[in-house]
Amino acid sequence: MENNIKLRVNNISVAYSDSIPVLKDVSLIVKKGQIVALIGSNGSGKTTILNAISGLISHYDGKIIYGSINYEGEDIHSLSSRLITLKGIIQVLKGRQEFRNLTIEENLKVGTASRNGKNSRKDLDLVYHYFPALFARKKLLAGSLSGGELKMLVIGRALMARPQFLLIDEPSLGLAPIMVREIFRIIKKINQDQCISLMISEQNTNMAFKYAHYGYVMEYGKIAYADSTEELRNNPDIKASYLAPSSIGAIESYRNSKLYNLRKRWL
Ligand SMILES: Nc1ncnc2c1ncn2[C@@H]1O[C@H](COP(=O)(O)OP(=O)(O)O)[C@@H](O)[C@H]1O
Ligand SMILES: [Mg+2]
Repeated sequence: MENNIKLRVNNISVAYSDSIPVLKDVSLIVKKGQIVALIGSNGSGKTTILNAISGLISHYDGKIIYGSINYEGEDIHSLSSRLITLKGIIQVLKGRQEFRNLTIEENLKVGTASRNGKNSRKDLDLVYHYFPALFARKKLLAGSLSGGELKMLVIGRALMARPQFLLIDEPSLGLAPIMVREIFRIIKKINQDQCISLMISEQNTNMAFKYAHYGYVMEYGKIAYADSTEELRNNPDIKASYLAPSSIGAIESYRNSKLYNLRKRWL
């Protein structure tokens, strides 16, 4: 049973600048090969959890003041972010992190830095396999890419580090619905093919619950709900507060109705 578990966060409390904790007694589990969604509105504590796991929290003057984080049986909450990266825990931050004056391929190669850039050809091929759009543009400067392509680039760069556990902060942010779906579809494929465990923070609950196995819903720095995404999707409270009819659903039904009308005309 125990060796089924990739990551275990045990009752952590986190505070910034020695102030009152913003995370209070948070516990969660990610099983091997699972995608776990971390849902919550702005300020609920999603990024803080990701940064606590990756060790980046100390760069923001944050501190785990109570509790522990265990990865594959080893406590990691006192390790530096560099050592945590070396264990295969790689984080994709929210927002723009591309090097605008480097090409796509050069940006991808930056991802190999944590393992001294060895054998990057094989990894590049893998990234291009999942993101053919990046292959087609590999010689272009990253500064010329669209929002969706940039998201692919930063996820691709994380893949170059050969992650075993990927933390992705709000992948859907700022993207058009069709691109959001494409990104999630690829993330799911990577998860299935490579057996990489993932924790994804999101405000797009519909999308996250569609692709994740398990979900945690954060409210004011605490876990308010934890369950399989299937159960969460049927939970009336979650439906009312987090599963508002999505724009993607709206587009889908719009498209279906168009197809239906088209079919009707032909029949
Ligand atoms: N570096 C920081 N210093 C002080 N407070 C912070 C810092 N980063 C985040 N916070 C506070 O911690 C809480 C949780 O923030 P965050 O983890 O970024 O939430 P989310 O990612 O869900 O939007 C918020 O109240 C936010 O204002
Ligand atoms: Mg955040």
